Amino acid sequence: MNLSVIGTGYVGLVSGTCFAEMGNRVTCVDVINEKIENLKKGVIPIYEPGLKAMVLRNIENETLYFTTSLEESLNKCDVAFIAVGTPMGEDGSADLQYVLQVARSIGKYMVRPLIVVNKSTVPVGTADKVRSVILEELDARDQNIPFSVVSNPEFLKEGDAINDFMKPDRVVVGSDNEKATAKMRALYAPFFRSSMDRLITMDVRSAEMTKYVANSMLATKISFMNEVANICELVGADVNKVRIGIGSDHRIGYSFIYPGSGYGGSCFPKDVKALIRTASEHNYNAELIGAVESVNDRQKLVIANKVISRFGDNLEGRTFSVWGLAFKPQTDDMREAPSIYIIKELVRRGACIKAYDPKAIREAQQFYLKDVPGITYFNSKYETLADSDAMILLTEWKEFRSPDFEELKQQLKQPVIFDGRNQYNDIMLKEMGFEYYQIGKKEKLASIVS
Ligand code: UDX
Repeated sequence: MNLSVIGTGYVGLVSGTCFAEMGNRVTCVDVINEKIENLKKGVIPIYEPGLKAMVLRNIENETLYFTTSLEESLNKCDVAFIAVGTPMGEDGSADLQYVLQVARSIGKYMVRPLIVVNKSTVPVGTADKVRSVILEELDARDQNIPFSVVSNPEFLKEGDAINDFMKPDRVVVGSDNEKATAKMRALYAPFFRSSMDRLITMDVRSAEMTKYVANSMLATKISFMNEVANICELVGADVNKVRIGIGSDHRIGYSFIYPGSGYGGSCFPKDVKALIRTASEHNYNAELIGAVESVNDRQKLVIANKVISRFGDNLEGRTFSVWGLAFKPQTDDMREAPSIYIIKELVRRGACIKAYDPKAIREAQQFYLKDVPGITYFNSKYETLADSDAMILLTEWKEFRSPDFEELKQQLKQPVIFDGRNQYNDIMLKEMGFEYYQIGKKEKLASIVS
């Protein structure tokens, strides 16, 4: 099939490339000229394992093209995917201006029957808005070209995006038109070699809702566990044990119950907010989902508060080594990363930060921590340790999993670790003479030496 994918962010670029990998002819469209020129040469704007090689392969195979001209891409197009951003508006709702601008351009330039697929995460009712805008433009040019609007939310995870797209748990297709559903089924059939059971079809509004509910449910599991972690500390229990104890019940399961420094990223914070907002637009107070968000806001500062309890309110003259800045491993994405909040809080109290992340330093320097003073960035984790009062682990990159603790002990001013992701064995660390602070288990100290 001939596909246009409009928007070359995470979702657009990964989807377009994976559809090309399956033999479709895909044109990825973006308004940013520099991005498109780079992509034509295989220069990828994000870090995503496996993506660069797949883009290059498909450029060479002539299955993947890049352009700034939506008009040109629609000439031969069967299915156009809208995959532009829906940033959070000031009131917490999803900002639809980019989605609707694309819809308007589609209406202006489409020349043949088309299936318009919404892949961006959009509130319930957006497909209707997209349909109206396209119709308006077709009317304005006195054209009557048939088209349908389908909702096909994307569930890929950053860092594992290619795998998620190529071997999906499920694909949700919301459509009110049988022919469009059949076409979508054909497009996705190669991704389901054994059975098409995991292609789930439904009406458009339910599909739009599904994405928000999936992300809010996962965020709920995380906030629930973070709340449990905080209670565990108070009562002298160990959340790591509790997690294993409850996860063994298959109705609960082990995934997404890891306590930590709160969820971040481009999806959970935005989608939870948007669902609360959608509910309130219908005069419903989504209390539980609201609490998921406030628990998460509080959780982001738990590690900073532990540092303050240990070293005092005034952190002037203190230096902390920070391992990990990205919101999770295997990505350079820092959107809503707990590290931003924690570092800002420590710096506000006078501390200096020595930071290292395998991939996200550029993002931190150029955008997310750009205006924060007192941060020095290093090329390796061990280089951050000298003259630091403690090491603070904020992202669970594999290279932090089993460090040389002797080296930590030698280099740090005193052997203190704050672990925002519960990566280490506390008994072993204690035997080695470390003070080890983690989430959901209180550090029992004989005495604190500063
Ligand atoms: C998420 C959804 O998983 C994906 O289906 C959707 O399409 C987009 O949003 P992503 O944001 O890439 O994907 O990251 P994910 O791996 O889901 O992690 C989200 C956040 O939750 C991270 O900050 C992570 O650290 C945190 N998390 C995850 C926990 O704190 N505990 C857990 O047990 C799992």
